[in-house]
Amino acid sequence: MIQNGLQCPYHGWTFNGHGACVVRPGVTVAFDNPEQHNSVQAFQVVEQHGLVWVCLSSLPATSSPRLQKWDDDPAFGSFLWKSQVNAELADALENLLDGTHTPFVHSGLVRSQGKAQRFSATVRVSEFCAEAEYLGEGKQNGWVSRLFERERQQSFGRFLPPCTAELEYRSSAGTEFVLNSHFTPAGPSKLNVFSRIYIRRTRVPIWVKRGLLTPFFRRILKQDQNILHSQQQNIAKFGGADFVSWDGDLLRGPIEHWLRTGRFPAVPSETTIHFEL
Ligand SMILES: [Fe+2]
Repeated sequence: MIQNGLQCPYHGWTFNGHGACVVRPGVTVAFDNPEQHNSVQAFQVVEQHGLVWVCLSSLPATSSPRLQKWDDDPAFGSFLWKSQVNAELADALENLLDGTHTPFVHSGLVRSQGKAQRFSATVRVSEFCAEAEYLGEGKQNGWVSRLFERERQQSFGRFLPPCTAELEYRSSAGTEFVLNSHFTPAGPSKLNVFSRIYIRRTRVPIWVKRGLLTPFFRRILKQDQNILHSQQQNIAKFGGADFVSWDGDLLRGPIEHWLRTGRFPAVPSETTIHFEL
């Protein structure tokens, strides 16, 4: 990206905001009517906190992507993390927001098997967000919580349409950590994941926290990539998915509903269930 346009890194062809090729290095004849030369389709974009949001619709965008309140809060530092998963969007969103796989896929890192904890989860579905609020978890028994987290009071998993999954952890001091992941298509059953991680500032600089957390994140991500890839392979092997859900799949229903219809159910809902995990 360059000022007011895009430049191809291969031959330097440069396109303005309307999609017209305005610079083509090597051209010796006059290049004074760019609209007639090699124009490409233009899309509305918004640049926000290190990410470029593209509106693929030909209709004018009615709203900008949701601004994260932590972006402008000096109490938080953040960093960006890019990865890729082999999965369909609903499966990837659910994977990030689902807690019940953690004692198995991330055993010892996030939660440990055989050390079940009781807690409750309340799912709220409103016009713009499907949210699961977890209460009574305390500190999780995996190494990540034991090393890096204060006593947990409350946590949230949120699906923010069309493509964002968000995790927020709070202590008695308020929000401590947020993982905000945006999924975009990278190919058939393949997604790019752009994650911004917000951490409450302390005397330890953010770059140090990033360095300490990165090996754990990398391991957890690899475990999720592997299980999602296995899921994809099984779906392909058996010629399609035949999922069975239960009440503990808290956000799968709202995610599927939104992806199928482009909206959440008209009537806001709130349900609570109890876990031992
Ligand atoms: Fe996971």
